[in-house]
Amino acid sequence: MKAHPHPSLRSLRWPALCGLALLGILLQACTRHGLQTRSAHVSPEPSLAAVAERWFRIGVGVHDALPQRPEDHVLLLRHFRVVTPENSLKPAAVQPRENQWRFATPDAFVNFAARHRLQVVGHCLVWAKDDRTPSWFYPPGDTPADRQLLLQRMSNHIHTVVRRYRGRITEWDVVNEALDDGNHWLRPSGWSRLCDDEFIAWAFRWTHQADPQALLIYNDYHNELPAKREKCLRLLRRLREQNVPIHAVGLQGHYEIDQVPFEELERTFDALRALGLKAVISELDIDMIPRARWWADGGRYREEMARLDPYRDGLPPELLDRQAQQYARLFRLFRRHADVVERVSFWNLHDGQSWLNYFPWQRVNHPLLFDRNGRPKPAFYAVVEALRES
Ligand code: GLA
Repeated sequence: MKAHPHPSLRSLRWPALCGLALLGILLQACTRHGLQTRSAHVSPEPSLAAVAERWFRIGVGVHDALPQRPEDHVLLLRHFRVVTPENSLKPAAVQPRENQWRFATPDAFVNFAARHRLQVVGHCLVWAKDDRTPSWFYPPGDTPADRQLLLQRMSNHIHTVVRRYRGRITEWDVVNEALDDGNHWLRPSGWSRLCDDEFIAWAFRWTHQADPQALLIYNDYHNELPAKREKCLRLLRRLREQNVPIHAVGLQGHYEIDQVPFEELERTFDALRALGLKAVISELDIDMIPRARWWADGGRYREEMARLDPYRDGLPPELLDRQAQQYARLFRLFRRHADVVERVSFWNLHDGQSWLNYFPWQRVNHPLLFDRNGRPKPAFYAVVEALRES
């Protein structure tokens, strides 16, 4: 026998329908309102920075025009406490010719950060690479007078930039990427040719002189891997012996899926702890379309790799999951070494903004915790869980 609706339910039908209609109208209004005021939308997920607070600070390297990018503000202000301007404080941007200073962009960036109580990392005072050093820096010869001139130019650069932001930029990547990838101790460049490692010591001394309160960092990539780590530790010991003010090492952390060097990171944190130094993870991401082969065997795979773009339509669930597991393992490791790890900064805000969509070839990449719409990915939730586990 077919059951009739319960009479009392039947009497409830009209009010229920009216209620549903009202709910529909309300929902529609909310959606419309949400679309119109996207920047006022508050996401339901927890704040990464707040969850991590008891372990370390969470930061991010962002577009230099940040103040003019309201579409980035909600995500940024919700999850991050520290910002690094991507380019505008690099020597080539801030002093493209001798004594021609370009401060408008970093000034606006630093003011925005102050208004929103974000800390700022200054990146970077010396980038010890020829193609990243404006050519006017280098004197023509290699006599002691040339060496002196290079140091003098560096001193002027550091004092001018660091004094301008004293108290507002509270940590500096003083020297970036000075160690060699191959057999040399330092990367061959105008810096090492004229000054060996002496320019590094002076860069730290002068930064400290210009702002004695700032946290001073030596920043590099692959410096958690054995070969470069040894060079890095040697550099740190030498600086320490000379009483040079250095406080932390930046491990850039541009990793690749399935290649995250967990054990080597652990060894690096132990070594830094023994030296009494801190670590910052300064530019974290996990490349989902690994790039190392690009440089292998004299670049012979490049043509083939330049056509590789497998995740144009998104990352398959299996890979999203693998990325989540590897991020979580990484954050568990950082957490275990939270007495050494001072800060973890991602490089770029969300997948759509990552430099790995273009470097070293163009592809649709997915290296971060937030997708192209700024929505948290499985990796985000896995990291939050790793940080909350008891
Ligand atoms: C290096 C630099 C950063 C940035 C990234 C790629 O890691 O330190 O400033 O240029 O490369 O964008």
